[in-house]
Amino acid sequence: MKVLVSDSLSNEGLEILKENFNVDVCTGLSEDELVEKIGAYHALVIRSGTQVTQRVIEAADNLKIIGRAGVGVDNVDVDAATKKGIIVANAPEGNMISAAEHTIAMMMSMSRNIPQANASLKSREWKRNKFMGVEVKGKTLGIVGLGRIGSEVAKRASGLEMNLMGYDPFISEKRAAELGVRLATVNEISKEADYITVHTPLIKETRNILDDEQFALMKPGVKIINCARGGIISEEALTRALESGKVGGAALDVFVEEPPFDNPLLKFDHVIVTPHLGASTQEAQVNVATDIAREVVSVLTGGLAKNA
Ligand code: MLT
Repeated sequence: MKVLVSDSLSNEGLEILKENFNVDVCTGLSEDELVEKIGAYHALVIRSGTQVTQRVIEAADNLKIIGRAGVGVDNVDVDAATKKGIIVANAPEGNMISAAEHTIAMMMSMSRNIPQANASLKSREWKRNKFMGVEVKGKTLGIVGLGRIGSEVAKRASGLEMNLMGYDPFISEKRAAELGVRLATVNEISKEADYITVHTPLIKETRNILDDEQFALMKPGVKIINCARGGIISEEALTRALESGKVGGAALDVFVEEPPFDNPLLKFDHVIVTPHLGASTQEAQVNVATDIAREVVSVLTGGLAKNA
């Protein structure tokens, strides 16, 4: 059996695959190159860099499983894969702590202007008044999406003594209460929160869940965090809300188009950004790589996928 790994994967995951199969690692392939290659493989292992389009799937005549070392499968045409009988599996647990920690790091960095102050001091400025921050204690954090990552964010924000409100159509009152989260609608979060962070997958129902209508409801100076997926928050609406002063800051790890070099959001001083680093820790990358490698081994040896 042959496995193609088309995004970088930690050695621990590669070792598991190599013990069982012939493994080729080819990163940075164009769609055409992937279409040309894929027919020879029984499994494809990806992160977020590879776009597994309908064309790729049509050419994947021997493929049994697409393994995503990470959570989001928005870079895979899941419908086309399912129609062709190809399993799409992900590794939803391995990077949830890293993603939650990054969210908190971004919220704190934004609140204390750490990236701006760092750049300023390194350019030989000593401007203590310019970087006056705010405490998060006692502020209301609205969490849109209380799945694995949103719940971990809630636990950490509760340690920071924030008031928590959250929206998730799939969570029970009991579970929300255990997390110290008051359940609310998206409208209520927009009206009441001082900080809003999104932790949903990017699907039809969540695309642009924060749009002009929601920004209009928000408190002046609200701070926005997106360490989930570009497109959950409308980038155009966020740009308008930053321009008008309605939004007092944003911390963004993800963008509709990555890398976002021409994205107008990058021009605001009070928008801090990282290059999709939520899952980029040593721990998370070992976890997701080994989890997905085990899924591939299971499926290619006649077993089931746990997270398909
Ligand atoms: C994920 O979906 O797992 C994260 O965004 C990290 C990644 O894209 O690799």
